[in-house]
Amino acid sequence: MTFTKADFGADFKWGISTAAYQIEGGYSSDGKGPSIWDKFVRKPGKIFQAHHGEVACDFYNNYRNDLQLMKDLNIKHHRFSISWSRIIPEGTGRINRRGIDFYNRLIDHSLELGIEPWLTLYHWDLPQSLEDDGGWTNRNIVQWFSNYTEVCCRHFGDRVKKWIILNEPMVFTGGGYFLGVHAPGKKGLRSFLSAVHHAALCQAESGRIIRGLVPDANIGTTFSSSHIEHYRPLQKDIIAAKKVDALLNRLFLEPLLGMGYPVDDLKILKRMEQVIKPGDENKLAFDMDFIGIQNYTREFVAHTPFVPFVKARIIKADKRNVVTTLMNWEVYPEAMYHVLKKFAAYKNIPPLIVTENGAAFKDEIKDGKINDHERTEFIRDNIQQILKAKKEGANVDGYFVWTLLDNFEWAEGYYPTFGLVHVDFKSQKRTIKSSGHWYSGFLQEI
Ligand code: FCB
Repeated sequence: MTFTKADFGADFKWGISTAAYQIEGGYSSDGKGPSIWDKFVRKPGKIFQAHHGEVACDFYNNYRNDLQLMKDLNIKHHRFSISWSRIIPEGTGRINRRGIDFYNRLIDHSLELGIEPWLTLYHWDLPQSLEDDGGWTNRNIVQWFSNYTEVCCRHFGDRVKKWIILNEPMVFTGGGYFLGVHAPGKKGLRSFLSAVHHAALCQAESGRIIRGLVPDANIGTTFSSSHIEHYRPLQKDIIAAKKVDALLNRLFLEPLLGMGYPVDDLKILKRMEQVIKPGDENKLAFDMDFIGIQNYTREFVAHTPFVPFVKARIIKADKRNVVTTLMNWEVYPEAMYHVLKKFAAYKNIPPLIVTENGAAFKDEIKDGKINDHERTEFIRDNIQQILKAKKEGANVDGYFVWTLLDNFEWAEGYYPTFGLVHVDFKSQKRTIKSSGHWYSGFLQEI
C-alpha cells in the first residue's frame, strides 16, 4: 500500500515531540531549581556510563536554531515540555521570572515561525524539593500540581492552545516508584500504588483547571501503550497477558473515562484502597479533548510464579530472535495498528493523537551524511499502520515523531539515538539524517 499525506486529511496534525530534561541542559541556569532527574543522574550505577542531561542538546541556548531546523523540515507542530523547577524552583511558591521568560521566548518564536506549541506540563522532571516531601506518593501533590498548572495557564495560556498534562504516567510511576530504574529511584508496591492514584487525580484535576483558565484550550494527556500478546498458547499465559495489559495499557485510561481502575483483571490494585478517599472515584474522570497514544513496540508475556503480584514476565525481544532497535524493542509497526484499534474501541473515547513514535538505531556519519534507512522505514511503516486503523474507523488526528534531536534517553544515557537530526555533543553541531529529509519531504506534500 502506498500512501500520501493527503490520505490523512487536511486537519491531521504532523509534528515532533521533545522533552525538557532530555534536550534543554541549562540545569542550573538563570535560577532553575534542581529536579529529581538532576539528582538521580548522580547516583552511581543508575545511568548508562554515568551520562547526564546537564548540557544535553543545550536547547536552552540553541532553541532558536532548533526551531528554525523544525521549520526547515516542514514541521508545524512541536510538542515540548516545561521544566517545572525552571519556573517554580522549589515546586511550589516562588516563581522564577527568568524561567518563565525562557518559555515565553520559546513560545513566541515558535509562533513567529508558524510552529504550533503543544505544551506538556509534566515529562518526568519533578522539582527535587517536592520529592523531598514524598513526591508523587504524597497526596499534597494534587495541590502542588494544581498550582503549577495554574501558573502555566496564566503565563502561557494566551498563546498556547494545545495542552498535554502528563507524559506516560505508567512509565514514571512504574520506573520511578516501583522498579527504581528512573528518578527518583524508589521501589515497592506501596509507593507505586500511591504514586499511581495521585498521578491519576492530578491528571483529571489539572484538566479541570486548564478548562477554566484557558479559553479554547485543546486538552489531552498521553499514555504509553504496548500491543500485548501471550507467549505460549497456554491458559496461564493468556491470564498473565491480561494482567500486564491491565497494568500497561488500562491503568490510567479507564479511571479517566469514568470506569475506575481495572481491578477485576489485576487484583493487586485492590490495595489502592489504602490511598483512595471517599469521593475520589468521581474526581478521577475528566472529559479530555484528545488522548495521546505513544507506541514503540509489542510485548510477549508469559506466566511465572517468581514475579510477585502479577505472576507474569515479559519475554525480551533479544530472546525471541526478532529484529530489534537499540532499546531492545522489537521492530513491529503492526503494534501501532493494534493499539489504536484497542483504544479507539472504548465507548466515549475522545480523538486519539499519536504523540510519540520512533526508533533508535545505530547511526554512522559517512562523508558528512547519515543514511538511516531503518529509521525512515520504521516511521513510514508506522504511519501506514495508522492509516490502516483510520480507514477502519479509528479516530486518529495526528502523529508526532519521537524525536527531533539525538538526546539524553533517561537510564540509557546518550546511547540510543532517536533523532531525525544527529547531534555531535562535543560541538553541538546538528546534521539532518536521511530520515529527517524523508519526513520533511513527506510533510511538504499537498
Ligand atoms: C518514551 C518517553 C520519551 C522517550 C521515548 C523513547 O517513553 O516518553 O521521553 O524516552 O520513550
